[in-house]
Amino acid sequence: MASPDRWPEIRGIAYGGDYTPEQWPREVWREDVALMRVAGVNLVSVGIFTWALLETREGVFDFAWLDELLDLLHENGIAVDLGTPTASPPAWFFAEHPDARVVTRDGVTMGFGARGMASHSSPAYHAAIVRIASALAERYGSHPAVVMWHVHNEYGVPVGEDYSDHSVRAFRVWLREKYVSLEALNTAWGTTFWGQHYGEWDHIGAPAAAPSVVNPAQRLDFARFTDHQLRACFRAERDAIRAHAPQPVTTNFMANQSWTTDLWAWAGEVDIVSDDHYLWAADPEGEIGLAIAADLSRSVGGGKPWILMEHSTSAVNWQPRNVAKRPGELARNSLSHLARGADAILFFQWRASRSGAEKFHSAMIPHAGTSSRVWREVVELGAALGRLDEVRGARVAADVAILWDFESFWAQDLEWRPSVELSHAERIRTFYERLWRDGITVDFALPGHDLSSYKLVIAPAQYLLSADDAAKLTRYVEAGGTLVVSFFSAIVDENDAVHPGGFVAPLREALGVVVEEFLPLREGARHAVRWDGSTSATLVADAWQEDLVLDGADVLATHVDGPGARKAAVTRHAHGTGHGWYISTRLDAAGLRTVMSDVYADAGLSPSGLPDGLELVVRRGDGADYAIAINHRDDDVPLAVSGVELLSAQDVDGELVVPAGGVAVVRTPLPHSGGGGSAKSGNP
Ligand code: GAL
Repeated sequence: MASPDRWPEIRGIAYGGDYTPEQWPREVWREDVALMRVAGVNLVSVGIFTWALLETREGVFDFAWLDELLDLLHENGIAVDLGTPTASPPAWFFAEHPDARVVTRDGVTMGFGARGMASHSSPAYHAAIVRIASALAERYGSHPAVVMWHVHNEYGVPVGEDYSDHSVRAFRVWLREKYVSLEALNTAWGTTFWGQHYGEWDHIGAPAAAPSVVNPAQRLDFARFTDHQLRACFRAERDAIRAHAPQPVTTNFMANQSWTTDLWAWAGEVDIVSDDHYLWAADPEGEIGLAIAADLSRSVGGGKPWILMEHSTSAVNWQPRNVAKRPGELARNSLSHLARGADAILFFQWRASRSGAEKFHSAMIPHAGTSSRVWREVVELGAALGRLDEVRGARVAADVAILWDFESFWAQDLEWRPSVELSHAERIRTFYERLWRDGITVDFALPGHDLSSYKLVIAPAQYLLSADDAAKLTRYVEAGGTLVVSFFSAIVDENDAVHPGGFVAPLREALGVVVEEFLPLREGARHAVRWDGSTSATLVADAWQEDLVLDGADVLATHVDGPGARKAAVTRHAHGTGHGWYISTRLDAAGLRTVMSDVYADAGLSPSGLPDGLELVVRRGDGADYAIAINHRDDDVPLAVSGVELLSAQDVDGELVVPAGGVAVVRTPLPHSGGGGSAKSGNP
């Protein structure tokens, strides 16, 4: 059966969450569906951790409870995202196949009693997942409640890499396919170093813990292999489903919260992208991390519909300090996802569990029941989303792309790098945060993508860059693009081998610089940077300086002190009809504000001019724009906009006040469609 690649049959914006009725008696099921109707829930994910109940022994199935449940949901107009339960194989599976258990890098064989899949390379696990997925699809492929399939749960979490014998054997097969000859493998891995040369395929192992640092090229290949094996598991289930069922298939990603899977490749395999996002409670501005995850989910899909599969109504239970969401935060978080393209807002989970590891996790129905603030906000949100049907499918357009490359992250995260301060997550967040505060919407992209539609491309952490991709970035600049490259980019090739000719050499033409030597700083050292761009200022930076050699670039900032004193810190180079910027030190978000305002001028971009903390994103539909505003501030903010505010159904003529902590969705007719509205944003 061909891939449907389409939105499931659900009305409007989907609303609901993970539903685990298997934890509750039947009378609670009836109360649940009645309350779902009160809350406006129209989609629930079921069955995700129910393998032990569905297949009680190998090949012996009990579908009676699921039949009853799906019928009940359907009778109540609630659609189902049916899970395959393969993220938690039953006790009988591990008892019969002890060799299918995951082995950690340190050689520990994982026990039973939690969740987490078996070895991705175990033949018994493969057979078992195809059996259960086929059985479910055969039985429920034509059930009217089922509108989509939810394969597995968060591949790569809690276990991704596996060092079992099955995995080692599969790794050798994968390597033979990739390299064909041992000579090619030895060359790619640089095995002359520390005498690691291989004379037999069977001598190659997984990069398990060893007396010292294991060959980084081997580890990078093992990360690629792990991603490949996990995807093979997904494909096996998806294809088993497609053989019997027509509904779209997804699996829930953890964009920006797990890096084990290459979501660019995964998004090509699913019909609908879905993401789970949880705020990091220690971050007082978690909404910025949320926006990164949402923009990444949209970007990897490349135009496919995407849904927020899970987030929390309030606190989670697995962080060191699980901070509860404050009044209104649930709606703000939900609307931020919607603004960035999500067409479904779902939670983990519907009803809080009384037992088990997650009993302190919030839910749509908390332990306090329906006489609670959380429940009231859940009902209010359901009503609000019910007024936004027309927003579904509206697109988000961005003028800026930030490079996000999982392979580069895998390589950079290995040991023995020049400084522990070199974090891709930190640099991406800092650059993204600048753009978020400036009200500029961002896509994420790979360096090899066609970037020609973007006015600005930023490489905050492109440690691994192939010569081919460097040539593409260079052509992007030549053709008039503005490229900003941050330090520790374009350092190694696809085998984690240093590019010859000095660091950043593959981008020498585009940037007009090359790095002779890294000058990492001691812990806590801060230094001054003299900025002489269109303005003059002293900026503060830390962690990193470089001995930068100019090859045509203009110097816009200079290190005042530190080992790089008097050397160039920020440069700009005219190449073709575009400009290549290089930032060789770790500026904070405030320092970047100064530099980026000159970058924006090169790229023809303007900040929104809105006060910090007023998030505004526009979705473009067929006949109208939807300006979605989320006010994270403690004061009301006036917004220059005209049209109809959909949550209140009020006309807006020139100015809308977005209340402190509140949200608004304004339909503004497209400029060419007449009607007098305006999608212009900014302070009146
Ligand atoms: C997710 C997971 C859910 C639940 C949730 C708790 O990552 O998919 O099953 O555990 O976390 O926050």
